[in-house]
Amino acid sequence: MRVAVFSTKPYDRQFLDAANEHFGHELVYFESALSEETAPLASGFWAVCAFVHDRVDRPVLEQLVGGGTSLVALRSAGFNNVDLEAAGNLAITVVHVPAYSPYAVAEHAVALILVLNRGIHRAHGRVRDGNFSLNGLLGFDLHGRTVGIVGTGAIGETLARILAGFGCVLLAYDVRENPACVELGVRYVELDELLAKSDAISLHCPLTRDTHHLIDAEALAKVKPGVMLINTSRGALIDTQAVVDALKDGRIGSLGLDVYEEEDELFFEDLSNVVIQDDVFMRLLTFPNVIVTAHQGYFTSDALSNIAETTLANIDTFERGERSGNEVEIERLRG
Ligand code: NAI
Repeated sequence: MRVAVFSTKPYDRQFLDAANEHFGHELVYFESALSEETAPLASGFWAVCAFVHDRVDRPVLEQLVGGGTSLVALRSAGFNNVDLEAAGNLAITVVHVPAYSPYAVAEHAVALILVLNRGIHRAHGRVRDGNFSLNGLLGFDLHGRTVGIVGTGAIGETLARILAGFGCVLLAYDVRENPACVELGVRYVELDELLAKSDAISLHCPLTRDTHHLIDAEALAKVKPGVMLINTSRGALIDTQAVVDALKDGRIGSLGLDVYEEEDELFFEDLSNVVIQDDVFMRLLTFPNVIVTAHQGYFTSDALSNIAETTLANIDTFERGERSGNEVEIERLRG
């Protein structure tokens, strides 16, 4: 099938080309993100392949349908950037990659926890500068500490398994319990109890209308003073300005972000010669107890290889008129 592949970097092409050797699709790569301006590039393509910063809203979908597109194949697990209602109305099928490597993201969350706790980011700079002082680097044993996991699907469960190995006490909040987590000893509680009792909180639920700004000023008023907050899921799960305020008064002791609510304007690009205009984001970068990575949780060779395989298999299945089970439909989400 001819596929218009948006938002491609050299590494995306490398893994898609390798996987495509046994699929034989005609992949046409576009570096630009999918938007109202770039949607005409997809004219004449039956399938469009998109990533997390591609805008797949109603105006874009209407243009895609006008150009003959029937399938949007996401190279991501998250699909908050797609207007599923519009896709359904326009009879466009949307497929995603539900679980390409929960390890990649869960391990990145653990990396953020460990680096923040022991100040490794600061220690690295200090030692290279001949400063061997330990002031300000005091951490705590993870063993015995309480970690609250919000969202215990594939990634949340994997994180729970890793942290169980550290000897952490695990609390979770989810709209449905995961039996594997219960078996592991995770205790499901209401969000308020998780906020009040956790020494570290890690977010692993999808971004939906219900979870938008789940961590806002009201939630932050309930946390244990000095809590560590980790978000590797989607930026808009937290109200960034409220988090900045909580960092300033010490309610948040440390913050690790792999996602940011306005990241579309920043992440995946080299802006080192540009004056960044986003003052909230730049304020975040001034805190010694904050680490931001640019949406790299998924970025392992294993994950990229699985993403490429599943995406091309999803397209193949659609071409044969069959269902892959990876369709994202609004009815299924409601059900
Ligand atoms: P999943 O679908 O396996 O698990 C999501 C869990 O969140 C489910 O257990 C679900 O019941 C729960 N959930 C849904 N609504 C909720 C609510 N209102 N409150 C609490 N829990 C709720 O998804 P998976 O694979 O674990 O991924 C989680 C998220 O991680 C994705 O939605 C995506 O946004 C993000 N992600 C980030 C990546 C990165 O590179 N940083 C890469 C891959 C995913």
